[in-house]
Amino acid sequence: LLNLKDIHPDQLPEEEKYRLLDQVIEHYREVPGSLIMVLHQAQGIFGYLPLLVQKYISDKMVIPLSEIYGVVTFYSFFTMVPRGRHTIRVCLGTACYVRGGKRILEHINKELGISINQTTKDLRFTLEINRCVGACGLAPVMVVDEEVFQRMKVTKINEILAKYD
Ligand code: FES
Repeated sequence: LLNLKDIHPDQLPEEEKYRLLDQVIEHYREVPGSLIMVLHQAQGIFGYLPLLVQKYISDKMVIPLSEIYGVVTFYSFFTMVPRGRHTIRVCLGTACYVRGGKRILEHINKELGISINQTTKDLRFTLEINRCVGACGLAPVMVVDEEVFQRMKVTKINEILAKYD
């Protein structure tokens, strides 16, 4: 329905988010079993699914909040905390691990002050790990959003991260 790639939650006013969410709910109103689709779109609009948004969907779709909460917490795709504008994924598959992936991760932990699956306070970065991205020959590998950085060195990290605002 909505092209989520065109939606930037941090640039949308709150009322506009709810207006879009109303459209989504309206679109799926008569479609049985559409809760996951609605939640997917809602997460695209808000960037995450706080309880307030879950409650709103619950009221409008007449679905118990407990059911919505159950779905949100069951699927790892959904998140109840805001995500960063950029996602850093450090590969910790065997090849990357052996060639220093862990040192890359530790440097980022220290530099950004976050652990795995956490987001910086300024919502700039979310940090995750990967288990092999299929570029083992060029290990260690780090991915930021869609961009792959190969043969990573600790000394290159800060310069790379500085490109993302
Ligand atoms: S282990 Fe990192 S790319 Fe394969």
